[in-house]
Amino acid sequence: AGLFPIGLVGCGTVGTGVVRILQSSADLLAAQAGQSLTLRHVVVRDLTRARDVDLSGCAVSDSLDALIADPSVQAVVHVVGGVEGPRQDIVRLLQSGKDVITANKALLCAHGDELFELARSLGRTIGFEAAVAGGIPIISTVCTALTANRILAIEAILNGTSNFILTRMLDRRQIYDDVLREAQQLGYAEADPAMDVDGTDAAQKLAILAKLAFGTAIPFDRIARQGIQNIDLQDLLAAADLGYRIKLLAVARLMTERLEVSVQPTLVRADRSIAMTSGAHNFIAIEGDAVGVLKLAGAGAGRLPTASAVVADLVDCVTGRAACTFQALLRLQQRNPLPLHPSA
Ligand code: HSE
Repeated sequence: AGLFPIGLVGCGTVGTGVVRILQSSADLLAAQAGQSLTLRHVVVRDLTRARDVDLSGCAVSDSLDALIADPSVQAVVHVVGGVEGPRQDIVRLLQSGKDVITANKALLCAHGDELFELARSLGRTIGFEAAVAGGIPIISTVCTALTANRILAIEAILNGTSNFILTRMLDRRQIYDDVLREAQQLGYAEADPAMDVDGTDAAQKLAILAKLAFGTAIPFDRIARQGIQNIDLQDLLAAADLGYRIKLLAVARLMTERLEVSVQPTLVRADRSIAMTSGAHNFIAIEGDAVGVLKLAGAGAGRLPTASAVVADLVDCVTGRAACTFQALLRLQQRNPLPLHPSA
């Protein structure tokens, strides 16, 4: 089998997870891709920082230049936070003829349309399975597996950090600040954890899903949202006494030809599977008119689960499946959009 050289920009939580999977599952990936995925370039901000992955055998640089200049690299994993820096990098990568894989939902919310159009015009693809719900394959589910359905509703837990906080506070009586710190140490939280706990991260993911599922472009900051910052142990205990859990729910629902969207702490009966979502897991119930309700649950944050989605996108680049999924996504986005409910 031949070699498929790849580039990696960003070697933090997700980046090191990608390196790990590429190394530990090299045989499996080669068998599925038909070529050996070979990490050739790694671009990091800080060359001196120690990382617990083996980068020998690849060129490590603090600039994109060598990667851009290497025509043998056809696909690049870009896992760096922020918006403007990643946008500029990804434009350059696409323009140099490379497919791009990103986990950056804030970037997609701000510049997704522009980047998708650029990729389309250049015949390249952007994979972003990891941007929504970490390891849960919700993007490919919506873009390809559910195409026979008109989507009626999405009810989901899309932020692992806040779900981790809500469950730990109740189950272990831990204090909010302590659990948040633990979520940061475990690599669940965003660089700015305010995005996790104030509902922004969930709103960004919901905006991405709603665009694909309903065709409606919703600026994430127009989604009515409320976070979990003001929920205390007393609230959680009072809800539990009544047989309920408090969950940060992201909901998009079709209401007589309009779409209603929100992110807010919600009381859910304790015996429902969405209420039993614990730790940094995510949960997505998606209802199609033909299939009915599907429920997907699993790790929505963290190093290896998020890297699992990134590496799947990478294999898709090698096999050509990424191009099919990307075309499907562009077609989905061109449908007649449903208007937003006036309350949004
Ligand atoms: N900070 C995010 C979360 C990471 O906690 O869900 C995954 O996008």
